Amino acid sequence: MEVPNELPEKTPAESEITMTMVVYPNDTNPMGMLQGGRLVQWMDTASAVCAQTHAERIAATVSLNKMLFRKPAKTGDIITIKAKITRAFTSSMEIFVQAWARKVLNRETYLINEAYFTFVALDDNEHPVLVPKVRPETDEEQYQYEHALIRKNHIE
Ligand SMILES: CC(C)(COP(=O)(O)OP(=O)(O)OC[C@H]1O[C@@H](n2cnc3c(N)ncnc32)[C@H](O)[C@@H]1OP(=O)(O)O)[C@@H](O)C(=O)NCCC(=O)NCCS
Repeated sequence: MEVPNELPEKTPAESEITMTMVVYPNDTNPMGMLQGGRLVQWMDTASAVCAQTHAERIAATVSLNKMLFRKPAKTGDIITIKAKITRAFTSSMEIFVQAWARKVLNRETYLINEAYFTFVALDDNEHPVLVPKVRPETDEEQYQYEHALIRKNHIE
């Protein structure tokens, strides 16, 4: 059943987040490769800030979808993580997160990971609460918006 939603719509740009990190030895495996779990933590943090900015509520991670480690990052690389909301449903929000690595010396930048995170906005009693709908502005945002529903229906 559709829940009435009087909250003002928001665009993806209003909650888009960019986070920059540096890979230190403590973040890597013995070969100097950025640990997968550390990158997931950074991507989770960036997407949580995005979801919470959209909802203006605390939001909890409920799922990760299609996480793909494409290439390794190494000690000393600069990591840029972008998180952008694709669609909000009743209490849940899907966030598209991408991570790039950059070599400081030759400035080469390449995509290392991307994934869809889903968060649920919570009230003070940790119960799901209504979130503002998303109003896509660009063709890419419209594409992500439409496919978010397909992904949600596929998961449930
Ligand atoms: C978040 C939580 C309170 C939601 O409770 P719940 O009983 O699953 O709530 P509901 O069944 O009403 O679902 C709430 C929303 O989450 C969505 N959802 C639940 N499980 C999901 C999943 N695996 N993937 C995507 N969405 C999911 C539902 O579709 C629903 O979305 P909608 O309101 O937009 O339609 C509960 O799942 C929880 O506490 N999970 C642990 C969260 C956590 O500890 N995260 C790590 C720390 S942040």
